Amino acid sequence: MIPDFLYGTAWKEARTAALTELAVRSGFRGIDTANQRRHYFEAGVGEGLAAAYRAGVVSRGELFLQTKFTYQPGQDHRLPYDPSASLSTQVAQSIGSSLEHLGTDCVDSYVLHGPASGRGWTDYDVEVWTAMARERDAGRARLLGVSNVSVRHLEDMAASGAEMPAFVQNRCFARTGWDHSVRAFCAKRKIRYQGFSLLTANPEVLHHPLVTSIAARGQGTPAQVVFSFALAIGMLPLTGTTDVEHMRQDLASGAVALSSDEVRAIETLA
Ligand SMILES: NC(=O)c1ccc[n+]([C@@H]2O[C@H](COP(=O)([O-])OP(=O)(O)OC[C@H]3O[C@@H](n4cnc5c(N)ncnc54)[C@H](OP(=O)(O)O)[C@@H]3O)[C@@H](O)[C@H]2O)c1
Repeated sequence: MIPDFLYGTAWKEARTAALTELAVRSGFRGIDTANQRRHYFEAGVGEGLAAAYRAGVVSRGELFLQTKFTYQPGQDHRLPYDPSASLSTQVAQSIGSSLEHLGTDCVDSYVLHGPASGRGWTDYDVEVWTAMARERDAGRARLLGVSNVSVRHLEDMAASGAEMPAFVQNRCFARTGWDHSVRAFCAKRKIRYQGFSLLTANPEVLHHPLVTSIAARGQGTPAQVVFSFALAIGMLPLTGTTDVEHMRQDLASGAVALSSDEVRAIETLA
């Protein structure tokens, strides 16, 4: 089962375990992390999950756990693999370490954090993607995804005959029609689009009269209107809130109902 919302665990450092546990206690059933110590503390996510299991809040089977493989240039010195090993071996070592951190033998989704080049799908990506599919086939991941991709990356993948991802996870700017071209590609290929930085990348939207008036009318907040919009267009949104009240609000965003005219107006707001 894929939940409607993902709780993002980036940038939480020593608070990662407590916030992950709080997110699960607050009702999140999807958790996004990465084996990239520079921005994430994946072992802390595992500690938070273990605490939630111990307390009987949830069982592993009720959760959707997603983590990522990150190339060396995206990492600092705390690497989850041997940098002198082949990329295929790095993938095997990275996912092995993720499974240990998360206390599971299979993640629900395994995501390539970003392609090797901003310009297109390279031979490096072919090797990594093939290795990720091998891990999936061996039962260590259920579904595969790619992140930080352009339409060019996705078209290159398709043209090369590669298996297409189940997920695309991108930063979502309102000024690009909320990543309109990538979302359109995903819709055609039945790829589920995950959007992050929906609030932080779009501060102008949170102050826009269209959004503030809908929030006032629906007795919600502008942040809830943005998430409700994301849900209405079939997006799987991420939030990394550190505030328990915001956790509750984010999960309840769908209650701020939008008409189809409002959805269209927000989609074309920029
Ligand atoms: N694939 C990638 O390269 C990539 C890159 C970046 C992020 N991500 C993933 O996406 C997750 C989310 O990251 P993000 O970039 O979207 O930023 P974020 O870390 O979730 O930050 C969200 C901001 O919005 C605020 N916020 C959340 N809910 C709110 C509400 N209801 N009302 C008011 N403010 C609210 C939060 O403040 P409070 O804490 O005070 O609520 C925080 O300042 C990350 O943790 C990570 O898992 C992935």
